[in-house]
Amino acid sequence: MNGETTLRVWRGEGGEGRLVDYTVAVEEGEVVLDVLHRLQATAAPDLAVRWNCKAGKCGSCSVEINGRPRLACMTRMNLFAPGETVTVTPMRTFPVIRDLVCDVSANYRKAREIPSFTPDPATRPGEFRMSQADVQRQQEFRKCIECFLCNNVCHVIRDHEDNTAHFSGPRYLMRVAELEMHPYDTADRRKIAQEEFGLGYCNITKCCTEVCPENIQITDNALIPLKERVADRRYDPLVWLGRRIGLR
Ligand code: FES
Repeated sequence: MNGETTLRVWRGEGGEGRLVDYTVAVEEGEVVLDVLHRLQATAAPDLAVRWNCKAGKCGSCSVEINGRPRLACMTRMNLFAPGETVTVTPMRTFPVIRDLVCDVSANYRKAREIPSFTPDPATRPGEFRMSQADVQRQQEFRKCIECFLCNNVCHVIRDHEDNTAHFSGPRYLMRVAELEMHPYDTADRRKIAQEEFGLGYCNITKCCTEVCPENIQITDNALIPLKERVADRRYDPLVWLGRRIGLR
């Protein structure tokens, strides 16, 4: 695809902005980030766009392209029809700092609230043994590049900004699930998943899974199993009795 395209880019800061059309050259094999860089090198040298690896691994270049949350560095220009206007806007769920750059720090604040891996002190380094199934489960969750496209698309915070403080989004519910399912983690994370990270808000629409650039099965492999564990705890007769007499 050699030629030109119309790139419609959101420009602005401090909550104010507008879409601006640019005509930009496109070369064979390029991705949206290449074209944004060409725009920076030509008509819009002050365009703010965050990126780092250009390999789909750092999670920095998350934007919305024609309304769909995507990594700019992994979205090929030949995805679009010749002559189609390509609209690039910042992630809608997070406050915009400038142009295409968002403030995603609320996610990191939520991450810091998660109690860290808590192994049994009696298990010494070198004594950990995990089944292959447990290793694979952990590895899938560890593929996350923290692009926050899943949190961006999640309607719980996308459409209800006031939920941000008490809903960690798919990214960090998956982290809680990862630790909860780790065979050597001794902490019971089911109560905080529900009460502090807002697991109950998730109604498993799978929007997060659909946009994950690492194809992590967030809903099926993390959120639903975590919900099942929370339900098991809640309806455990001993836990129920404990709640009734004020022990738990
Ligand atoms: Fe690193 Fe796109 S620049 S994921």
